Amino acid sequence: MTSPEQPTVLLPGEVRMPLLGFGTWQATGEAGYAAVLAALDAGYRHIDTATMYGNEREVGRAVKESGLRREDVFITTKLPPERVGRERETIEASLAALDTDHVDLWLIHWSPTSPGEGIPVWRELLAARDENMARAVGVSNHSISQIDELIQATEENPAVNQIRWSPSLYDRQVHAAHRDRGVVLEGYSPLRTTDLSDPVLVRIAAAHNVSPAQVVLRWHIDHETVVIPKSVTPDRIRANADVFGFSLTAEEMRDIDALGG
Ligand SMILES: NC(=O)c1ccc[n+]([C@@H]2O[C@H](COP(=O)([O-])OP(=O)(O)OC[C@H]3O[C@@H](n4cnc5c(N)ncnc54)[C@H](OP(=O)(O)O)[C@@H]3O)[C@@H](O)[C@H]2O)c1
Repeated sequence: MTSPEQPTVLLPGEVRMPLLGFGTWQATGEAGYAAVLAALDAGYRHIDTATMYGNEREVGRAVKESGLRREDVFITTKLPPERVGRERETIEASLAALDTDHVDLWLIHWSPTSPGEGIPVWRELLAARDENMARAVGVSNHSISQIDELIQATEENPAVNQIRWSPSLYDRQVHAAHRDRGVVLEGYSPLRTTDLSDPVLVRIAAAHNVSPAQVVLRWHIDHETVVIPKSVTPDRIRANADVFGFSLTAEEMRDIDALGG
C-alpha cells in the first residue's frame, strides 16, 4: 500500500530517506520485534532505533524475517552520549546487533554540552560514513548554533537533525534555518506532543474522513519533514502508515501551522 510510492527526501550521497518512518523507543523485547514486523508488513520502509533503546537486535531480526531486501528498508540508529570517545566500537556493536554491514543513517543522539566538544564526535561519524558503515550521518537534539559549529569545523553539514516536532511545536524560522543549511528536519514524538482533540485537527480530520493523528502525520509529510510515529498497537501501526490517500490544502496547512503559536 505505502511502498514503493512513498515520498522520500534526498540526503547527500544520493541516499533516499522515506518521509514516513517507524519509531521504536520503548518498543523492546518480543513486543518490539512484533511491532517492527507489523510495521514492515503495513508498508513502513524506514525504522528508527538507537543504541539507547536496547532493541537493535529485535529490529534486525524483524527486518530479516520480513523477507524484504535490506536495500528496501532504511535503518537509522544513534550514538548515545555515554559512548562518546568509543564511537567506532559503538557503531560496530550496532551493526552486529542489527545484523547488517551498514546503517542508512547514524545520528549523534545528543550533543556533548560544552562548546567544541561535539566536533571530534562529528568527525568520527564522518569517518564511519567514509568507511561505508553508514550511508549518511547526522545529529539529533541539536540547536542551529550547534549545527553551525559542526559545519564550520568540517565543512560537512549533518544530513538530518532529529528533533521534537509537531503542530504545537511548529516554528517557521527553525524549519527555514534547517532548510537553509541543507539539513533535513526529522520530527520525533509527533503524537505524544499533540492534543489530538484540538478542534482544528478534529475539523480537518472530519473533512478528509481520517483521524486527527493521521492529519498530524500528513502535515509533517506535506511540509517535507520526516516523521517517525511509534506504536505497538497493530491497528495504530497500520493507521499511522495510511496517510498517503489524502493531502492537506494550503489553508489547512496554515491553520495547523498556527497551532505553533
Ligand atoms: N532523538 C530523540 O531524542 C528521540 C526522543 C523521543 C523519540 N524519538 C523517536 O521518535 C519516535 C516517536 O516518538 P515517541 O515514541 O516519543 O512518540 P509518538 O510516536 O509521538 O507517540 C507514541 C505514543 O502514542 C501512541 N499512539 C501511536 N499511534 C497513535 C494514534 N494513532 N492515536 C493515538 N495514540 C497513538 C502510542 O501508543 P501505543 O504504542 O500503545 O500504540 C505511544 O504511547 C520514537 O519511538 C523514537 O524512535 C527520538
